[in-house]
Amino acid sequence: MKNEVQNGILYPSDFPATQKGSKMKTVISDIYTNQEALREAGRIIREGGLVAFPTETVYGLGGDALNPEASGKIYAAKGRPSDNPLIVHICEIAQVDEIACDISDQARKLMARFMPGPLTVILKKKDCVPKSTTGGLDTVAVRMPSHPVASALIRESGRLIAAPSANLSGRPSPTTAAHVYEDMKGRIPLILDGGNVDIGIESTIVDMTGPQPMILRPGYITPDMIREVLGDVTIDPAVSGKEKPVNIVAKAPGMKYRHYAPKGRLTLLDGAPEKVRAEIVRLSMERLSAKTSVGILCTAEDETFYRTQVPEAVLLTIGHRNQPETVAARLYDTLRKCDELELEAMYCECFFDQGLGDSIMNRLLKAAGYERIEVKDCDD
Ligand code: TXA
Ligand code: MG
Repeated sequence: MKNEVQNGILYPSDFPATQKGSKMKTVISDIYTNQEALREAGRIIREGGLVAFPTETVYGLGGDALNPEASGKIYAAKGRPSDNPLIVHICEIAQVDEIACDISDQARKLMARFMPGPLTVILKKKDCVPKSTTGGLDTVAVRMPSHPVASALIRESGRLIAAPSANLSGRPSPTTAAHVYEDMKGRIPLILDGGNVDIGIESTIVDMTGPQPMILRPGYITPDMIREVLGDVTIDPAVSGKEKPVNIVAKAPGMKYRHYAPKGRLTLLDGAPEKVRAEIVRLSMERLSAKTSVGILCTAEDETFYRTQVPEAVLLTIGHRNQPETVAARLYDTLRKCDELELEAMYCECFFDQGLGDSIMNRLLKAAGYERIEVKDCDD
């Protein structure tokens, strides 16, 4: 996308000139070259408007967390159900006491270890946090991002910033400013472009309000990393399994919605890598012969294999098999590409490994509507 610079602000090249001034124009500002952008962003937040900004996990869609009108705008821009609470972003640990109370020593220990970073803690909320921000709950989700642009924006605005991921509800979370623009064009005034995010999947959410710490959403910070600090942590059964949870309601309201869903049908294959590869080839051929467009989400290690075995399939490389962080970083971009290419059937191997792999699988299983095939050994 080629952008046009006017008054130090980058206008997306496809911004319709006829809509300038009337409908909301969405400006993408390169935060590293445009010093003015941050000041402008801070002003928008203070006036109750919205700004999209990079964090180390995914891009967020920010508004003043203590202004109910701003949270209303966030729900509207995302098309998000208003019972799905927002995370409040802070830039100093001490700010947690402005919005939360009854904070246990365990919660403080966890925050001291992982903040700033990809951790969100659920705490009891203070009255100053409007229920529109917390989706009607008495608890509040708090996160202190480590991305320098995110903390600079919070500081510059002089506000605490409520921010969900900056995607339209039901779309994969954005990991680049271009993803945000795809979803938020015409809906928000400003996107701060800080380049690609580092991690690529959303923060780990830990509920610290119950008798036992509980992971409500798996993320970059794994259960083992949390156990090192807290001794023990349980995982909400609604987010930990390979099967679609039946009759269990996820404790993080957002986890019950179908997320990250590409338009085509994604199927996951679990088992020994060589068996999985063979089955992906077989299924792809079957679909291709039925004139279905097929995509294979593959690791760099398998590219050559698939290219020679099923040259008609579209190959989307999502990272390296033994480096889950490279898969996390490319996951949402790959899912968006599936839609762009209008793929009808997609296949992907599983990455379960107890660590970050399980967090990746939590997203992939949702994207696949829990469509998972276990590829068995013939001699089993
Ligand atoms: O990495 C992240 O956490 C990103 C970046 C932008 O910070 N944000 C993000 O926000 O993923 P969002 O709104 O897409 O996801 C927030 C999740 C939802 O599943 C929501 O239901 C849950 O957090 N949540 C928020 N407040 C909660 C609360 N008080 N109790 C339980 N779950 C809560
Ligand atoms: Mg989200």
